[in-house]
Amino acid sequence: MLYTNIAQLATSAPGPQRGAAMRELTVIPDAALLVRGGQVAWAGRRQDAPSWADECDLGGVAVVPALTDPHTHAVWAGDRLADFEARAQGVAYETILARGGGIRSTMRATAAATVDELVALARPRLAALTRSGAATVEVKSGYGLDFAAELRMLEAVGVLARDVPATLVPTLLIHVPPPEGRAGYVREVCEGLIPEVTRRGLASAVDVFCEREAFSVEETRAILTAARAHGLGIKLHADQFHALGGTELACELGALSVDHLEASGEAQVRALAASGTVATVLPGVSLHLGLPAAPARSLVDAGACVAVGTDLNPGSAPLSSAALALALAVRLCGLTPAEALTAGTVNAAAALGLRDRGALARGQRADFLALEDRDWRGLVYTLGGSPVRQVYRGGQPLG
Ligand code: NIG
Ligand code: FE
Repeated sequence: MLYTNIAQLATSAPGPQRGAAMRELTVIPDAALLVRGGQVAWAGRRQDAPSWADECDLGGVAVVPALTDPHTHAVWAGDRLADFEARAQGVAYETILARGGGIRSTMRATAAATVDELVALARPRLAALTRSGAATVEVKSGYGLDFAAELRMLEAVGVLARDVPATLVPTLLIHVPPPEGRAGYVREVCEGLIPEVTRRGLASAVDVFCEREAFSVEETRAILTAARAHGLGIKLHADQFHALGGTELACELGALSVDHLEASGEAQVRALAASGTVATVLPGVSLHLGLPAAPARSLVDAGACVAVGTDLNPGSAPLSSAALALALAVRLCGLTPAEALTAGTVNAAAALGLRDRGALARGQRADFLALEDRDWRGLVYTLGGSPVRQVYRGGQPLG
């Protein structure tokens, strides 16, 4: 199919981009896009397009690569409305967690749900993310109170992967330790849960929440080392409230990404710039919790590879729009629109170990967005309304 009447086609180069290269987009006016076998076969000026029998007129709007959301907790039960109200009256997120609420209350509700209930709850969230432009979405476990509940969450992601329009990438998240017996819990994660998840092919990566109210750096190291030994990718939630050394550990172990980074300082920025680990920032958390944003501007200026995710979850970011996450990254984290597009496409894919998507270049997956606007910057300019008219995955329109 030859897609024509594209007012503007904007794309980053394929593969992860770091530092100043994040701003180097190719922007083609009056463009056309040739898709064959679900892949981009050609992209360029309309006047230079090969002649093709099947043509589809996109109506004179801008086209960009489809987004990847590299960080979500889209499967949960219950709600956090009481936390939200308490926080609005000044109670801190960490205080609620330390009192046994917050993440732990979502764990109680999620552990009580069946796989079918979890699937039904998550489906509309994933549909909203896809409508917002994400053709690929990572989904974490992490609200299972025990291992059986953790496995049910990953089973739910497996069911959803077969019936939602986006490509889902499942991650096992080791989120918070039990109040007692944490050494034994970490051992069981390493010797029981990770081998079982690997054997059943339920996740492609393991993530750990490295934080004062969660896992220490040494516990995180043990879990991620076991994950690596099983051939799984590794990721971290680090520096959300305190820079404990999780980011440095992620860089040392060659993690795919380290996510959050709101409390990162110069040392963490330097470590990320010198590593192949993607720095994933989550501006929805800064907005929802009213906390400082991650230093994405400094990270890009230092030469790091920065991605943006929604962190969709009930406690710290009830944000189900990948496009809005990019718009917030411009406002709250100081990225330019071009850097934000790169952060939400090729770099977000790289945070999941994927290099076959995120750019409209020959051989890449033909996952792309027809925007409402004639100018690609409309994608990150719009707040609230949807800047995305139509999502295409493998060259096919979704929905
Ligand atoms: O990425 N901070 C840790 N985990 C999630 C929040 C989960 C929750 O509050 O339910 C996050 O922000
Ligand atoms: Fe998260």
